[in-house]
Amino acid sequence: MLSIIVAVAKNNVIGKDNKLIWHLPEDLKRFKQLTTGHTIIMGRKTFESLGRVLPNRKHIVLCNDANLNIEDENVEVIDNIQLLDNYINSEEENFIIGGATIYKLLMPYANKMYITKINEEFEGDVYFPQIDSNVWQEVERQKGIKDEKNPFNYEYITYIRK
Ligand SMILES: NC(=O)c1ccc[n+]([C@@H]2O[C@H](COP(=O)([O-])OP(=O)(O)OC[C@H]3O[C@@H](n4cnc5c(N)ncnc54)[C@H](OP(=O)(O)O)[C@@H]3O)[C@@H](O)[C@H]2O)c1
Repeated sequence: MLSIIVAVAKNNVIGKDNKLIWHLPEDLKRFKQLTTGHTIIMGRKTFESLGRVLPNRKHIVLCNDANLNIEDENVEVIDNIQLLDNYINSEEENFIIGGATIYKLLMPYANKMYITKINEEFEGDVYFPQIDSNVWQEVERQKGIKDEKNPFNYEYITYIRK
């Protein structure tokens, strides 16, 4: 199965200039907890934005150039979403980690979404798609820790496909 994981501002912004805008270490900790040991699927721009291969996770990078060569045994480059069929149909949870293009492309195939909703507006250039309440049901909502290092009001919201 595919699950989406994303941090979204109140105005649906998720990034700017191929970077994350906010720094929320508590959310990064949660991202690590949820995705470690799993496959993470991302667009080529998000892979570049990470700047490194994340430990203990298989990376699948979508890119139109099948010849893109990333020399790392934990990274696979694919140029066709049909190659994700095994991940969509598997019992295991595989995570779609962005960015905007890939969320939009793969949202129809996802069964679960872990959304960190930041209760503030940010200026950005990439957005998360609208969440259709006919399709998605909220099953959990939890306030995030706000402190000196995490200076925003934010919530962790989980949705499953109806
Ligand atoms: N807030 C969050 O949780 C979060 C999470 C992740 C990312 N982000 C942000 O999102 C932004 C990046 O998003 P983005 O939309 O610009 O880029 P992206 O989705 O990360 O990557 C887009 C790239 O994926 C490849 N691609 C897209 N569709 C494809 C297809 N059907 N087949 C094969 N390859 C395909 C293309 O690569 P080629 O051009 O190489 O062909 C395309 O340029 C950054 O600002 C990042 O910080 C935010």
